Amino acid sequence: MVEISRRDFIKGGVLASVALAAASLGIPLTQFLSSERVITGEIGGSSRSLPLKIANVSEVSPDSQVSFIMPLNPDGSRGQHPAILIRLRPELAQRAGTEFKAYSAVCPHLGCIVHLEPRDDIYCPCHAGYFDPVDGKVLAGPPKKPLPEVEIRIDEVGDIYAEGWRK
Ligand code: FES
Repeated sequence: MVEISRRDFIKGGVLASVALAAASLGIPLTQFLSSERVITGEIGGSSRSLPLKIANVSEVSPDSQVSFIMPLNPDGSRGQHPAILIRLRPELAQRAGTEFKAYSAVCPHLGCIVHLEPRDDIYCPCHAGYFDPVDGKVLAGPPKKPLPEVEIRIDEVGDIYAEGWRK
């Protein structure tokens, strides 16, 4: 597990790998990289790659997101897959029965990067796709599939880990 600042991330070879993968999908990374920091799993994947520590609960405000990179794609193949951890605003947390949810950040329509709109839903800027922050389901727009969900665990000190993709 590596925690790096946005500047370090941009300098590193990690960006090149992600950018190449994203370019092959036609994904603009500007919004993903506009986050203050990006957490990434080890490149190349191994049994040490997951669980991946994303953040501590104290570091994530309600109605905000943290971007991170899953070391596996949702289909189980190795890859660096953009994802977002969301701390739900109180009314959504009540509906979800939890404050934290995590999803793929890759829109299932044509692969653009989605993000949480404050006081709103998860939004894809390419064709105005909207997803429910509570369960990742499509609310509006052209996407036909929900956002794949990341299984997360919060330990006794409040550290939040990505465990894998929810089946
Ligand atoms: S790529 Fe997301 S709505 Fe089209």
